[in-house]
Formats: sequence, structure tokens, C-alpha cells
Amino acid sequence: MSSVVTLPDVTAIRAQFPILSEKVHGRDLVFLDSAASAQKPVAVIDAMSDVMRTQYANIHRGLHWMSERTTEAYEAVRGKVAGFLGAPSREEIIFTRNSTEAINLVAYSFGSLLKLGQAVLVSAMEHHANLVPWQMLRDRSGIDLRIIPITENGDLDYDALEQMLGAGDVALVAVTHMSNVIGGMVDARRVADLAHASGAKVLFDGSQAVVHRKVDVQQIDADFYTFTGHKLYGPTGIGVLWARRELLEAMPPFMGGGDMISTVTFEKSTWAPVPHKFEAGTPAIVETIGLGAAIDWVESIGFDAITAHEKQLVDHAARVLPEVPGLRVIGNPEDRGGVFSFVMKDIHPHDMATLLDRNGVAIRAGHHCAEPLMQHLGLTATARASFAIYTTEAEVDALVSALIRIRDFFV
Ligand code: ALA
Repeated sequence: MSSVVTLPDVTAIRAQFPILSEKVHGRDLVFLDSAASAQKPVAVIDAMSDVMRTQYANIHRGLHWMSERTTEAYEAVRGKVAGFLGAPSREEIIFTRNSTEAINLVAYSFGSLLKLGQAVLVSAMEHHANLVPWQMLRDRSGIDLRIIPITENGDLDYDALEQMLGAGDVALVAVTHMSNVIGGMVDARRVADLAHASGAKVLFDGSQAVVHRKVDVQQIDADFYTFTGHKLYGPTGIGVLWARRELLEAMPPFMGGGDMISTVTFEKSTWAPVPHKFEAGTPAIVETIGLGAAIDWVESIGFDAITAHEKQLVDHAARVLPEVPGLRVIGNPEDRGGVFSFVMKDIHPHDMATLLDRNGVAIRAGHHCAEPLMQHLGLTATARASFAIYTTEAEVDALVSALIRIRDFFV
């Protein structure tokens, strides 16, 4: 018997995002750039403003009421994030500035434990955040960095991955959980099973995926998982690294400073236990509390409803986008999250984005921080429309109508 999923009340959801009632160039805003950064609901805006209005102080340091209250609020978010990711322990949650910093932390710290002759695998569709730190590690330490190809449809090539793992020298497979350009979801459990069978660890860049699908790090058997707050309806400046405790305990600190130490003398220092060993300095207190509010808000809607709404939007967009003459959607992945990249004959993506903006439609155009993928696709840029829980079919239709007007103007 199939269970019935209730679709979310998108009108009521939209009412919680003040920015969505703004006008752009005198038109209703059609915001289709949420993969770059999502808009913020009142719940997040209020949580951040409330903490600054009523109880703000530095955390982990003060003995006064304000500091204790704020420390509690900050540390409560660690538990929320652990629940959100299905992590076994809140101590395995490290707060970072964003997903980029989380991956840099792993590349620097876990990377320092790798030996010459070992390799890291990343895919051909990585965001620069999950490529450049590994190139830097390779250049520092001499480890090998190899690229897992993707299929014509834009899915990870699992057969190629299996073959590459056969070399027996792979220490880590680091891949995106959802492409920010093509929109395809990666079968994380399949990647983890393949990696573990050859003794490699696995890291997923979940920056896009956590917005669109329920992620459970134990179910997918990940070793490292990263995401960022601002794509999940939370603030910028706060990201997350989850890793298995035994890995975190074996890894050296990433940055030194206050809060990450146990003892300090002029001669030497010893480290605080995880997670604090990886959180040097005053953290993003207000932003972390904002992330907690974002997680509460997302969970109040629920991933069944989020995924069902998104599937409707993706199916609708897949039907109507090809109605635009000369438009080509990039990739046809098996399981697409709410991201479509496309190009149009004779019109540069930047021109498309500028003209769409005049029509009130915000999209992203460029290489989307994935230049090597663009080279692989033989393109310099694409236009990209990306969806969120507040996106409507009418907005997708508005994009299509505007694209047809632009096309008529150009040809
Ligand atoms: N990583 C963000 C994007 O894909 C900025 O747009």
C-alpha cells in the first residue's frame, strides 16, 4: 500500500518569507536562485534578532547569566544538527564557516595523515570547494588526485569509480551528494559501499543535497559529511562538518587559538576534546542559533512534503522548459533535485540572466564554481534555475514565458 504524502501549503510558506513580496524592476520577484543562497523565513530572522536583543554574550567563557544562556542556545544547535543528519553523537558535529571551510578542514587535517602513494578521488562535477582543497593537499604532500568521470546524462559513473578503487591505493572518495550545476543526486550509499569495500573513506559535500532530501549519515554510511547554513534557509557564516568520532579523534587540529585547547604553556599546548578541538576562536554565535531555527523550520515542514513538492516542480520544469525554442537542458540525471542548467542557441547565459532580471526573474549564470565541469561539457557557462520549498509552478511558467520573450527579441 503506498502512503499518501500531503503536499506543503506553499502559499502559507511563502507568507513567511518577507522578501518574496518585494518587487524587482516593478514586477513580482520570481526568485529562482536558491541553490546559490536561499531566502530566509521570519523564524530565522527573528531567532537571530531575538538573541541579539535579549541574551547575547560570548560563549564557553563567561560565568554570567547572559553567557550561560547563549552557550546553552549555541550548544543546543549541535544536538539539532546531529538529529538533522542522523548522526550518532552531538560531539561529532563541528561548526565551521561554511561547507568550503569544512572540506578544507578535512583536506588539511585528515589529509595530513595520508601517505605518499595514496590517492583521493573526486568527481568531474565537483564545486571548486571540493576540488581546490584537494589540489592544494596534492601540491603540499604529493598524494595523487584522480577524477571520477560522469556519464552523458550527468550522473556519477559508478562503474568507473569501482574500477578506480580497484587500484587499492585510494584513501578517500570525496564527492558531491547533489550537483549544483546538473542537479543530479548521487547515490551516496552506493559510493560508500564501493569505497569501503576497497578500504577507502568517503566524504560527501551535502551543500545542495540537505536542502532537497532527508539525509541520514548512518544510513548512507558516510565517514565525513558537510553542508552550509545559508542554502538551508539559514544565515551565511555557519557551516557544518560531521565526521565519525574515531576519525575526528585521530585528526590534528585545523586552526589553533582560544577554545580549542586543554592546556597552554609557553612551550606547548594540548587540545580540547572533540568537537572543540576543531573550533578555534569565538564562533559565529548568532548564525549558529539562526541555523538551529532554520533546521526547526525545515523539520516543521518535513522532508516527505519537501521532496514531494520538489518532484512536482522538477517534473513540471522538465515538461515546460523544452517548449522554449533553442533551449537545451544540460544533463538528464536519474534523480534530479531542484536544479536545471540550460543554454540557449545564440544567446549567452549572462545576457539571458540580465534580460530575465528585467522581467523580475532571478537566476544564476556562469560557471557555478565548477569550471572543470564546464570544460568537460564543452561550455563556458550555463544559465541555472534552482528551486526551493517556496517555488511555485507559476514561477517556472514565468521563467519559460520570459525566456520565450527573450528568444523572440534576439531572433
Ligand atoms: N555554490 C553556490 C552555487 O552553486 C554558490 O551557486
